[in-house]
Amino acid sequence: MLAFSLRNSEVCEFAEFGEDALEAVLAIENAVSPSPWSRQNFLDSIHSSHYCYAAYHAETILGFAIFSCAAGEAELLLIAVNPTHQRLGVAEGLLHCAQSLLGRKAQELFLEVRESNESAIGLYEKLEFNCIGRRPNYYPSRGKHPREDALIYAKHMTSKVDG
Ligand SMILES: CC(C)(COP(=O)(O)OP(=O)(O)OC[C@H]1O[C@@H](n2cnc3c(N)ncnc32)[C@H](O)[C@@H]1OP(=O)(O)O)[C@@H](O)C(=O)NCCC(=O)NCCS
Repeated sequence: MLAFSLRNSEVCEFAEFGEDALEAVLAIENAVSPSPWSRQNFLDSIHSSHYCYAAYHAETILGFAIFSCAAGEAELLLIAVNPTHQRLGVAEGLLHCAQSLLGRKAQELFLEVRESNESAIGLYEKLEFNCIGRRPNYYPSRGKHPREDALIYAKHMTSKVDG
């Protein structure tokens, strides 16, 4: 079992989640995302080859991260942390644990992030991801907010690759 400690000394267990966690992850996603994934998006991920990981404290999900992984490359598709538990190291712990597992299957980890998403960019830069490109106008406009560029980040994962 993988686990990590938060800044408030609580211990989180890191584990894959399934359909039984759907309401909990949807609640977090709807609380934090300007364009949240739908219930069907989560179901599709859970029932595909995606890796759906969560940080549990006393059976409560504090945050989650979803990855795809194929042909030696992994991609972070989604990460979110409950606003009640942000800035305690949940996302950092999730990404560290995920890298230790995915690093056995892939050498590179990629992700895309809105250029205005300072908290996520702060997270990726703290974890030594490198900004390797930009997709102009990648994110559609929403309400008063115009279209937005995506920044592409990558990190080399050093674990040995399984055969
Ligand atoms: C981005 C997000 C996942 C970070 O989760 P978190 O658990 O609060 O992050 P952590 O506590 O592990 O923070 C790790 C580092 O990330 C950076 N960071 C996190 N939140 C930040 C903020 N609000 N502002 C600036 N940097 C921030 C910091 O470098 C932080 O390290 P520090 O606290 O030692 O300074 C969370 O804010 C979230 O759910 N946001 C909404 C969803 C989202 O934007 N997902 C990413 C889409 S690409």
